Amino acid sequence: MTKPVGIAFIGSGGIAQSAHMPAYKKLEAEGKAKLVAVCDVVEATAKAAAAKFDVPHVYTDYAQMLKRDDVDAVDVCTPNYLHMQPVLDAFAAGKHVICEKPLAINGEQGARMVEAGHKAGRKFQVALNVRFGSGPQAVKRFIDAGKIGEIYYARAHALRRRGVPSWGVFTQKDKQGGGPLIDIGVHILDLTLWLMGYPTPVATVGAAYTKFGNRPGVYNTWGRFDHTNYTVEDFAAGFVRFENGATLTLESSFIANLERDEMNTHVFGTEGGAFLNPFDASQSRIYREEAGTLTDSSLAMLPQVNSHEGEIRAFVQAILDDTPVQVPGEQGLMVTRILDALYESSETGKEVRMT
Ligand SMILES: NC(=O)c1ccc[n+]([C@@H]2O[C@H](COP(=O)([O-])OP(=O)(O)OC[C@H]3O[C@@H](n4cnc5c(N)ncnc54)[C@H](O)[C@@H]3O)[C@@H](O)[C@H]2O)c1
Repeated sequence: MTKPVGIAFIGSGGIAQSAHMPAYKKLEAEGKAKLVAVCDVVEATAKAAAAKFDVPHVYTDYAQMLKRDDVDAVDVCTPNYLHMQPVLDAFAAGKHVICEKPLAINGEQGARMVEAGHKAGRKFQVALNVRFGSGPQAVKRFIDAGKIGEIYYARAHALRRRGVPSWGVFTQKDKQGGGPLIDIGVHILDLTLWLMGYPTPVATVGAAYTKFGNRPGVYNTWGRFDHTNYTVEDFAAGFVRFENGATLTLESSFIANLERDEMNTHVFGTEGGAFLNPFDASQSRIYREEAGTLTDSSLAMLPQVNSHEGEIRAFVQAILDDTPVQVPGEQGLMVTRILDALYESSETGKEVRMT
C-alpha cells in the first residue's frame, strides 16, 4: 500500500480549521494522508487545532517544523502578506506546497513562489477552491463537450452590498494587497478564466473606489470594522482583453449600493451561454438555440461536493500519483498579475499592457 502523504500546516486559524483540516481527516481515514504537525505563531491556536483534529506535533516556529522528515507537504494558511516567505521556505526544505488564495499580495512575490516551486521540483497548488464545486465542474463539462462553442466574452461578479470582513487584516492594503478584488474577486476571476481555458491577458483597464469604508458609521452586516484603518477599495471594476480576442468584465465589492449580493459568472459563447453561481447550482443555466427554439436548461440533481475537500483531495492525489496539480502556481500568478494591472490602471487612469 502507498504511504500516506504527511501534512503540516503553517497558519492554523480560520480556513485551516474550518475547511482544510476536516478534508485531510477524511483522507486520513482513507489512508491517503496523515496530519503530522500544525504551526501557528499563536500557540493557543495551534494547540486548539491539534486537539480538535488529533494532530501529534505542535509548533510556533515553522522553521523547526520544516526539518521533519515525515512532513511531505505543507499547507500554508497564513494571511496574504505572509504567503510568500513560508512557501519559499517550504520549497527550500523540499516539501510540496498548497497555498491559500490569493497566491500573493502582488505578482512580483507570486513569481518568486512559482519559480521556487520549479527549482525545488515539488508540486505547487493554489487553493482556488471554487472550481471544484459540482456546478462549476458540470458547466466545464458542457464547455469541453463543445455545447458553448468559442467563449468570446465573460461577465464575472463578486459583489456584496454591505459585507466588509470585520476581523483579521481584510481592510489593510499593505497586508492584504487590496480589498474585495483580491479577496473575493480572485475566486470569481479564477473560475471564469478556468471556464475560458485560461487565455493569455494582454491589456486591462480598471477602476477602484473607496467611497464608504473610510467613513464612520457605515452599516455593515458582518460586524463593526475600524474605518480609520480602512485602506482598501470598497468596489472595483475591470475590463480584460485576451490574446485570443476574448474579453471579460469583472466587478467586485465589499460595499456598494446594489439590490443583493452576487457571486456568479456568465460566459458568452458561439453555441451557447452559461450562467453559473458556483455556490448554488440551482441558479445556474445553460442558454442555447436548438431546433429553432431558444432553450434554458438548468443543472439537476448534482452531487453535493465541498469545494475545499475537492481541492485537498486533488492536491494529495497529485502527490500520490505524481501527476500535475489541477490549480498550478502559474494560474494563481496570472490571476494576481491581472489584479495588479487593474489596480495600476485605477491609479494611473490608463490602460495597462500586460505583454
Ligand atoms: N479559499 C477560501 O475560500 C478562503 C476563505 C478564507 C480565507 N482564505 C485565505 O486563507 C488565508 C488565511 O485566512 P484566515 O481567514 O484563515 O485567517 P486567520 O487569521 O483566521 O488565520 C491565519 C493564521 O495564521 C497565523 N499566522 C500568522 N503568521 C504566522 C506565521 N508566521 N507562522 C505561523 N502561523 C502564522 C495566525 O496566527 C492565524 O492563526 C488568507 O490568505 C485568506 O485569503 C481563503
